[in-house]
Amino acid sequence: MAIIDNYNAQGPDDTAGKRFDRPPPFYDAWQSKEGIPIHQSFHVDDLAKVELDMWRRFGVPAAFVNLADPFICTAMVLEIPPGGATLAVRHMFETWIFVVGGTGQTLIRQDGVKDQVIDWQTRSLFGPPLNATYRHSNTGTGPARILMVTNAPLTLNLYHNERFVFENPFVFKDRYGGEDDYFDPHHEVMAQRYIRTNMVKDVCDFYLHEWKERGPGARTVFLSMSHHTIGAHVSEFEVGTYKLAHRHGPSAHVIILQGEGYSLLWKEGEDMTRVDWRENSIFSPPDMWYHQHFNTGGKTARYLALKSKGAPEHPCRIGAPGPNSDPDFAKNHQIESEDEDPAIYHMFAEELKRKGLAIAQPRPNYKPR
Ligand SMILES: [Fe+2]
Repeated sequence: MAIIDNYNAQGPDDTAGKRFDRPPPFYDAWQSKEGIPIHQSFHVDDLAKVELDMWRRFGVPAAFVNLADPFICTAMVLEIPPGGATLAVRHMFETWIFVVGGTGQTLIRQDGVKDQVIDWQTRSLFGPPLNATYRHSNTGTGPARILMVTNAPLTLNLYHNERFVFENPFVFKDRYGGEDDYFDPHHEVMAQRYIRTNMVKDVCDFYLHEWKERGPGARTVFLSMSHHTIGAHVSEFEVGTYKLAHRHGPSAHVIILQGEGYSLLWKEGEDMTRVDWRENSIFSPPDMWYHQHFNTGGKTARYLALKSKGAPEHPCRIGAPGPNSDPDFAKNHQIESEDEDPAIYHMFAEELKRKGLAIAQPRPNYKPR
């Protein structure tokens, strides 16, 4: 399956009826020749169970996970055996490193500054600075599994040159200058929900800020890390509650950190798709599909979203507008509770009842239809 939905192997004809054979997108061809599994899926129930095979580029087993619209960002899963390490790599695409499970270290090397080592554990989040060389090693007794969410599809398609992307000597000194405390796990609150940090030790323990506009008991922070343009945010919502439906552009990868529940996803005017989730599930709402998350578990549900844009300090518009380019975006693309389909609240209440849990938010005061 081609990554680009509207990819057409045959180009348009001209007035003389001649045609040309359109080559496949560079990233599709590159993924295929890397020789590791490519999992095409709407959602993955458990990242810890994704099947992997040896990736010579990193020297460890790995796989690609192509969720919806994987033409800007996509996911890769790597597993480092106990006592093992990846090869050292550098690349001209940005990546998040989220630790699905295990403990280890990452060596960061950049020309002109001294090496640094990042210590990580299960649910750590960081981003090697763009084009810095990095090498992960497993310091634990079991396998260490890492999720990468990267803008590799965008970057590789843009330059369609593997050497430029993987063997480029350019040093982004403006992003990382070897500062001693660069990867210390401290954070700075820039304003309310906007946080600057380069290392989150455990995303489940990280500070969040109330965001009641997204629903009762909702808390969120947006992270500015390593001067990436790809964004990250962490959200949680309480037992017996759900978040308001909203929509935005493609490539937001939602990783469930704790809790259980389900999400409804739909394109305006079309049927809904339901995804049931739990810790380590991942899915990506398709471009401009509404999505709404429901907590049906006995504890607070928390998730991490890694996405193609939305970095607070480096706005980078790709595709549909967003909050950085349209101040009314969130308001215009959220369904307020009084506008919701009453079946949504009913379904949630029934789900909770089946589990012996009480709904913790009042029935919306629906507008007359
Ligand atoms: Fe979203």
